[in-house]
Amino acid sequence: MQVLKSLPALRAALSGTRGTAFVPTMGNLHEGHLALVRQARQATGGSAPVVASIFVNRLQFAPHEDFDSYPRTFERDTKLLQQNGCDIVFAPTEADLYPEPQDVKVHPPAALADVLEGAFRPGFFVGVCTVVLKLFNAVQPGLAVFGKKDWQQLMVVRHMVRQLALPLQVLAGETCRADDGLALSSRNGYLSPAERDEAPALARSLRDLAAAVQAGNSDWAALEQAAMDALRGRGWAPDYVALRRQADLLPPAAGAPCSDALVVLAAARLGRTRLIDNFELPARG
Ligand code: PAF
Repeated sequence: MQVLKSLPALRAALSGTRGTAFVPTMGNLHEGHLALVRQARQATGGSAPVVASIFVNRLQFAPHEDFDSYPRTFERDTKLLQQNGCDIVFAPTEADLYPEPQDVKVHPPAALADVLEGAFRPGFFVGVCTVVLKLFNAVQPGLAVFGKKDWQQLMVVRHMVRQLALPLQVLAGETCRADDGLALSSRNGYLSPAERDEAPALARSLRDLAAAVQAGNSDWAALEQAAMDALRGRGWAPDYVALRRQADLLPPAAGAPCSDALVVLAAARLGRTRLIDNFELPARG
């Protein structure tokens, strides 16, 4: 496995190759990331290189967020990538990726990007789309794998790829969970032991809400409110619990059963840690 820091080195290593599979990450890797790398490897059938990037993207962090303290575990990450079938790690510095102030940015549409995560983290998806497009331009992959854990991110990236006619396929990787149901996340490392014990309650509350919908309850607003109240009662500070249509992230029509594929998404703070999770409900009928 090669570890490359500069764009010219990456381009040289990839010249003459086709169909590269790409997994963008911010490092501090866990089993969820490694599963994406293995999925990328499998999708190429072994016939094309697998590239993973490690880059903590300042552009997607608000000034009060955890850019400075975001865990950087480069040595460990590269070992894990090697063990999981990665051929090239692209780990640019900020100067490589943003050699001058980045004033050309990708602005995804408000309907997808200014709601849910985008409403609580203004500018987040501008930062994500801008860096993802730059990374795509660097790697020029035939396919890229994004985790469903960041469900809205996956949707926004797919929209960008479609609208800009980028010549690559975006694959979705399933969310990896701990045995107690907690979705794996680099930010789980911020949890105290007591918070770690409590953390699976977020996934449980989404599963309960999904079960109520599947049992025929169509009072979406009441279900969302009840889930947030229950989390608050356990010491969480929820930003949102929202039931949305998978196709367009809009709420289903109020008070009527819905046969569309849905997804329930949530973000909530436990102590100083902000966790997100989601649960998909397949289309019915
Ligand atoms: O999901 C992430 O880790 C990041 O948002 C990504 C896609 C690597 C862009 O910085």
